[in-house]
Amino acid sequence: MRYDLIPILMFVHGCAGIQSALEPTGAEARQIATLFWVMVIGGATIWLAVIGTLLYAARWKNKPHSAQSAGRLILWGGAVFPAVVLMALLSYALWLMPSLRPQAAESSIAPLRIEVTGEQFWWRVSYRSENHETSIASANEIRLPLGQRVEFVLKSSDVIHSFWIPSLGGKMDMIPGRTNRLSLLATKVGIFRGPCTEFCGTSHALMAFSAVVMDPVAFDTWLEAQSQPSEQHASDGKLRFISNGCGSCHTVRGTEATGTLGPDLTHLGSRESLAAGILPNTEEAIRRFIADPDVIKPDSKMPAFRMLPEDDLQAIASYLKGLK
Ligand code: CUA
Repeated sequence: MRYDLIPILMFVHGCAGIQSALEPTGAEARQIATLFWVMVIGGATIWLAVIGTLLYAARWKNKPHSAQSAGRLILWGGAVFPAVVLMALLSYALWLMPSLRPQAAESSIAPLRIEVTGEQFWWRVSYRSENHETSIASANEIRLPLGQRVEFVLKSSDVIHSFWIPSLGGKMDMIPGRTNRLSLLATKVGIFRGPCTEFCGTSHALMAFSAVVMDPVAFDTWLEAQSQPSEQHASDGKLRFISNGCGSCHTVRGTEATGTLGPDLTHLGSRESLAAGILPNTEEAIRRFIADPDVIKPDSKMPAFRMLPEDDLQAIASYLKGLK
């Protein structure tokens, strides 16, 4: 094992994966990655030229310049060269801008609109497509079809959060009292990760979501299923869920649980993760979160239910995991 390589490996490892702006899987992210590399190559070339000139002056050309050649060096190397290079890089970045923020031209024709609201510390999600009259509620997971432009409508209900799926595109703040728009086009099927990128309170670092890019046909089927209430079996867990008052904060469509303070749980069991990207979606994790939300996610608004008998916790967790 070459321990001296560890820092380099850590650095390079950070450039790939489900949350990397340098491994783009969306049209906007590709533009940003290209801009990044152009800037890096431009900067590195200039740095090499400056260091080369420095070495040349220090080691080989160590006689004083004439006043005339010094003046020429300052004019060309110190004024003309940086002005031209900076103008070129700036022009390139400005030229990219319309394609990085295409929503102004295309928002009226985006067939799918996803509204995402930042909450402390989770994401309220609602889909609005041409095929559905009403919007479809979900939480902490965003699904989008491959190769179709999606318009995100970004809001906040409390403090400033920031919405970012590095693999797919640029970042956009979610500001209370304001509606921001972001347009993204996914170019690869997969599961990516979006973290909250604006400090929003104690559990800011525990606020993330999965961004699932699906084949368009699979997406339509999925959205259709999401628009329906989940299959309900008369179960003990459901009764305990209702009788313990969970429905005053959470909605499970098709039941008397219609609360809107917390995440919609209608299809909780089918989501990629739990509690805004921090727990695996298992029955055990659901049970733990119901009992100790204040430990798992400090300052979250969900009250702890550790006083419930173990039977209740288990039955409710099992009911919720079954909501596919
Ligand atoms: Cu929400 Cu940081």
